[in-house]
Amino acid sequence: MILKDKVALVTGAAQGIGKAIALKLANNGAEMIISDVNLDKAQETAKDIEKLGRRAVALKANVASLHEAETMMGEAVNKLGAIHILVNNAGITRDALILRMKEEDWDAVIGVNLKGVFNCTKAAVKHMSKQRYGRIINIASIVGEMGNAGQANYAASKAGVIGLTKTVAREFASRNITCNAIAPGFIETAMTQALSENVREELAKQIPLGRLGMPEDVAEGVLFLVSDAGNYITGQVLNVNGGMYM
Ligand SMILES: NC(=O)c1ccc[n+]([C@@H]2O[C@H](COP(=O)([O-])OP(=O)(O)OC[C@H]3O[C@@H](n4cnc5c(N)ncnc54)[C@H](O)[C@@H]3O)[C@@H](O)[C@H]2O)c1
Repeated sequence: MILKDKVALVTGAAQGIGKAIALKLANNGAEMIISDVNLDKAQETAKDIEKLGRRAVALKANVASLHEAETMMGEAVNKLGAIHILVNNAGITRDALILRMKEEDWDAVIGVNLKGVFNCTKAAVKHMSKQRYGRIINIASIVGEMGNAGQANYAASKAGVIGLTKTVAREFASRNITCNAIAPGFIETAMTQALSENVREELAKQIPLGRLGMPEDVAEGVLFLVSDAGNYITGQVLNVNGGMYM
């Protein structure tokens, strides 16, 4: 059990990539905090994890609020005694071409995807600094590296996450806290199921490995970076995209 005695918190872990990450970490020994705005679904994920024989606590928190992020982190430490691993996974899309994009769509996406990562990181590093250990993973996106028409808000938020990742890595390395980003390509989740079959087929043609990714493909990358195998890796972006962007 490579994550025995570790406590991990995953945001947006009620479904999709976040749920796959939570299951992967729990399968490898971690006790889990399942955080999401959707408490009912977060509780379902927590129950699935308890079936694996791990402790799991579901907490409702909107990552866009610093106050909620701090309360969540305090509760997590109260309930499971520490916080060793933080995976900033919660994310949303509000797609439109720039000329049609509403100000509130810009603000909402930046608020969850970028400020949310700042909020949860700020709340977690207080605890991690004291224990001189922390592993932070931020889920960015291929779109933050390449840009994507119709996703100005999303692409900017994810590019911002990459800059934030490198800054956190520099600020907290002396406390033995590492911070890395994973930039998934197109992954089979509710977020991409909204795309038409045509668009998905066209996308697959642009991917050297010839298929969209699975949430578990992303979870494997997270496990590597938070395990001892990743101890000397910080400030990096791991692309999990089937070769779509190199
Ligand atoms: N699916 C993809 O192709 C893909 C590709 C690259 C990156 N990503 C990123 O991976 C992450 C997970 O995406 P997914 O495809 O699993 O999406 P998803 O929509 O299936 O799941 C996102 C989860 O985040 C939660 N959430 C939304 N807003 C929140 C908030 N304010 N506070 C707390 N939780 C909130 C939702 O309730 C949901 O459970 C996101 O950051 C996304 O941008 C996804």
